Amino acid sequence: MDLWEAIRARHSVRSYTDRRIEGETLDALRREIDACNRESGLNIQLCLNEPDAFSSLIARYGRFRNAQNYVALVGKKGADLEQKCGYYGERIVLKAAQLGLDTCWVGGTYRKGKAAAAVGGGEKLALVISIGYGETHGAPRRTKSIEQLGRADGVMPDWFRRGLEAAQLAPTAMNQQQFRFELHGDRVKAVALPGFYAKVDLGIARYHFEIGAGSEGWRWDE
Ligand SMILES: Cc1cc2nc3c(=O)[nH]c(=O)nc-3n(C[C@H](O)[C@H](O)[C@H](O)COP(=O)(O)O)c2cc1C
Repeated sequence: MDLWEAIRARHSVRSYTDRRIEGETLDALRREIDACNRESGLNIQLCLNEPDAFSSLIARYGRFRNAQNYVALVGKKGADLEQKCGYYGERIVLKAAQLGLDTCWVGGTYRKGKAAAAVGGGEKLALVISIGYGETHGAPRRTKSIEQLGRADGVMPDWFRRGLEAAQLAPTAMNQQQFRFELHGDRVKAVALPGFYAKVDLGIARYHFEIGAGSEGWRWDE
């Protein structure tokens, strides 16, 4: 499964089977997390067989069932922490989809105080991603239109449209999709609109956009 196929196959999954993550799959997942940490300077941690953070009423209210594992997104406090967590967390989510694993981003419906991650001085646990073998692989949901999510100065080039198509399938908190991509010349500006976890969502959407648009002929307007 390539990354574009992983984007199409991924949906949030909140109910998991008892099957453990182990062997080659676990090794590949750890390698991806290590690579993300090296590149980003984040301190992302894989917490396995740790059900406590998801065993409360709030997690059940959030419809989680048998969530035993999660990826804890930890990093130095700072203005860029949330967007970085979005970008690199989604890299791990799509790698997980390639490995046959199911995931769900979780900002609110878990017990942060019970999370097993080690959070150092000056660091923060931004949010987590539940991970495991799902009871199902989830289902597609509604999305905003390409025209709502992006705008180009002139005629919209095909690569920009493909970037937006990938971003349409990006998970966002409460499916709010509060992001916009604007094309001016060869520069793409990514904008977070007001909303919960909007900066995390923007990081996620930027990673999807890069996969859809490819790397040639444009650059980010930071
Ligand atoms: C930053 C972020 C935070 C989220 N927090 C929660 C949460 O606390 N509880 C939950 O059940 N789902 C949560 N989600 C999952 C979204 O509800 C889900 O991604 C969205 O409805 C789109 O569905 P999809 O992922 O199947 O495409 C979160 C997603 C993101 C990106």
